[in-house]
Amino acid sequence: MHKILLIHGPNLNLLGSREPGIYGTVSFDEINTRMKRVAEENGAELHVFQSNSEGALVDAIQDARNWADGIVINPGAYAHYSIAMRDALSAVKLPAIEVHLSNIHAREEFRHRLILTPVCVGMICGLGWRSYLYAVQALIALLHDRTGTNTT
Ligand code: DQA
Repeated sequence: MHKILLIHGPNLNLLGSREPGIYGTVSFDEINTRMKRVAEENGAELHVFQSNSEGALVDAIQDARNWADGIVINPGAYAHYSIAMRDALSAVKLPAIEVHLSNIHAREEFRHRLILTPVCVGMICGLGWRSYLYAVQALIALLHDRTGTNTT
């Protein structure tokens, strides 16, 4: 069974109440519940980690090399400037898919610069909570491709 780490960066614990016009009204807990269910339905196991601290996020990425097969990550604002998180993702060499609820390219210019994307397999943005959904589904499909266990 494939094991996936879902990482949320700073302020994403406030989803549901945080700027709902931009990030939607589905709560942080609800997104995690839905993603765990989707993973389960697709024969995978999903673990969730959230932190507001860059160091804790780096530690979680490093630790994932000991047990995870892949990572889905919404780095929050760190997406735009965390070289440390990028280096951690490069170091662990796990397939990672980056997620943003909002369409960062349609927002302020400082959000257009993405530090982590080049070391991720792909990036999904602008689809609200479904950005997570499609990222989890895509990662599971990719892992099946790699292990030759794809049924679709
Ligand atoms: C975000 C986009 C980032 O620019 C912002 O700092 C966030 C959320 C998103 O999911 O749309 O915290 O990652």
